[in-house]
Amino acid sequence: MTTVFRPGDAYPVMLGDLAQTFPDWLAQRRASGILLLTDTNTRRHCLPLFLKATGLSADTPVVEIPAGESRKNVATCISLWEHMLQARLDRHALVINLGGGVIGDMGGFCAATWKRGVDFVQVPTTLLSMTDAAIGGKLGIDFQQVKNTIGVFQNPAAVFVDPAFLKTLPERELRSGFAEVIKHALIGAPELWNMVRDYTPERLSMASSETWLEILRLSIAVKVRVVTEDPHEKGIRMLLNYGHTIGHALESYFLETDDPLTHGEAIAIGMLTESWIQHTRLGKDVPDEWIRLMLRIFPHNPIASSIVPEIWHTMQQDKKNKAGSVRMALPGKNAFDMEVLEPTEREVEESLGFYNGLKKV
Ligand SMILES: NC(=O)c1ccc[n+]([C@@H]2O[C@H](COP(=O)([O-])OP(=O)(O)OC[C@H]3O[C@@H](n4cnc5c(N)ncnc54)[C@H](O)[C@@H]3O)[C@@H](O)[C@H]2O)c1
Repeated sequence: MTTVFRPGDAYPVMLGDLAQTFPDWLAQRRASGILLLTDTNTRRHCLPLFLKATGLSADTPVVEIPAGESRKNVATCISLWEHMLQARLDRHALVINLGGGVIGDMGGFCAATWKRGVDFVQVPTTLLSMTDAAIGGKLGIDFQQVKNTIGVFQNPAAVFVDPAFLKTLPERELRSGFAEVIKHALIGAPELWNMVRDYTPERLSMASSETWLEILRLSIAVKVRVVTEDPHEKGIRMLLNYGHTIGHALESYFLETDDPLTHGEAIAIGMLTESWIQHTRLGKDVPDEWIRLMLRIFPHNPIASSIVPEIWHTMQQDKKNKAGSVRMALPGKNAFDMEVLEPTEREVEESLGFYNGLKKV
């Protein structure tokens, strides 16, 4: 059975078997041409499944880019626009982004700027993009070590979420996506929190399609509710950035090293450290249960205090900032309550000290 969400009544997000939805949707579309974007891994692991489920011809033009966050930049965009030119994509064409958040964000951005906008669909293939990145119309690329600095808001024509793609997703990437599921649970879905609070990496890798459908249904509902209320991030949508102020700065820093963090690993540290600042200001501890879940699912990566000035510098470029002060959005007392805090560099350093001191459980 397919569950259909409609963020802002604007476009359908269809959760379920792709074969049940995509072919009819595409037939009604009458696109003048199709370009399929993949990365090295999604071409290998997801394209065969996608073609089989949708019945699209194996002759459909496919563009493959090297996988990874380090490719989410303007140089790759130029190569994608060159492919669009070669494929003679006109404004009635359709771009299909088959991949994780990198393909979705960048392919969407290139489509949204091609001839002032050509339609695109998101077919997310990672847990992270299924639950978060593919929904809400935020598109963009990294620039000069700062995440998502160049971009636009543009809704896709549709999103097709089929957990069948998760079968080939490496375990580390599955855990990465789980960070955004936990985030959605903590900001607005107690029912989802009850479902995932006891999870272990083993349970994650053994989850059945039915379990994924249920987790995704609850998690996507949070994202859809928030982006419907605030499509352009003037208010409550900032809450989706919980963990991302410190997390993005860490992700950007480690991207330049031999040991990059996945997006979710960085956001998990971000959620713990940002919550520590919030709770410390209130004279409270971060709930033990949150800490235990994070430490079970994510590796513990101590962060050297010597990198704090660089992290702080990157945080000063964060898009939520206002009038020069760094801002973080955190969950409040009730579901969908938001609290905005302005941390100091000292607090960021101390919060990383708190994180470094946590013991694996
Ligand atoms: N637009 C938004 O609202 C939003 C929200 C959250 C995150 N993001 C962005 O999403 C990106 C992270 O997304 P991600 O974690 O999906 O990363 P990703 O796209 O880099 O995918 C992770 C890895 O998994 C591989 N892969 C993807 N699907 C696979 C499959 N089914 N089987 C085997 N391998 C597969 C990819 O090739 C890649 O190596 C970041 O750039 C982040 O900024 C955007």
